[in-house]
Amino acid sequence: MRLFLILSVLFFSACINNNEDSTIITDPNDTSEMALLMRDMFERLEVIKYKIENNESLSEEQLSFAIIHSQEATDSSFIKEGLVPMSEGYSRIINQFNNYPSKENYKSIVNSCINCHISMCPGPLERIDNLIID
Ligand code: HEC
Repeated sequence: MRLFLILSVLFFSACINNNEDSTIITDPNDTSEMALLMRDMFERLEVIKYKIENNESLSEEQLSFAIIHSQEATDSSFIKEGLVPMSEGYSRIINQFNNYPSKENYKSIVNSCINCHISMCPGPLERIDNLIID
């Protein structure tokens, strides 16, 4: 497990740029489909977080994202054992939110981002921390 983490960090540059947003945006050619999806998810969730913090209604919120494991990643060896079940679990949690958009279900989404990242791609964890609410 530890070895896999180290290898991930070595191979997947997208997993190392934690909060240096500027470097992320400057080179679009290096950006995989999967990384673009992740940024899109991040931005959508930031909006929902803002609404929660401002006591705005979530009842109209519906999330629709591409299936993570169907996206091309920065390195194809990413699609390893572990990614698919976590990606499927993530989709279920998104559906749960769509059926009942609530603060609790928002928190479940963020936990599932974090769970996958801890084992697959620890670099962006610091950025993902910005989505946590109490
Ligand atoms: C099933 C595993 C999984 C889940 C769930 C997941 N991620 Fe990711 N994430 C990855 C992988 C793998 C990459 C690296 C993608 C690449 O480089 O092609 C990544 C990359 C990222 C990046 C860096 C993108 C870039 O600009 O290079 C961010 C930010 C990110 N994820 C945020 C999130 C957020 C926010 C969520 C929850 C809404 C989330 N992730 C859920 C696996 C996951």
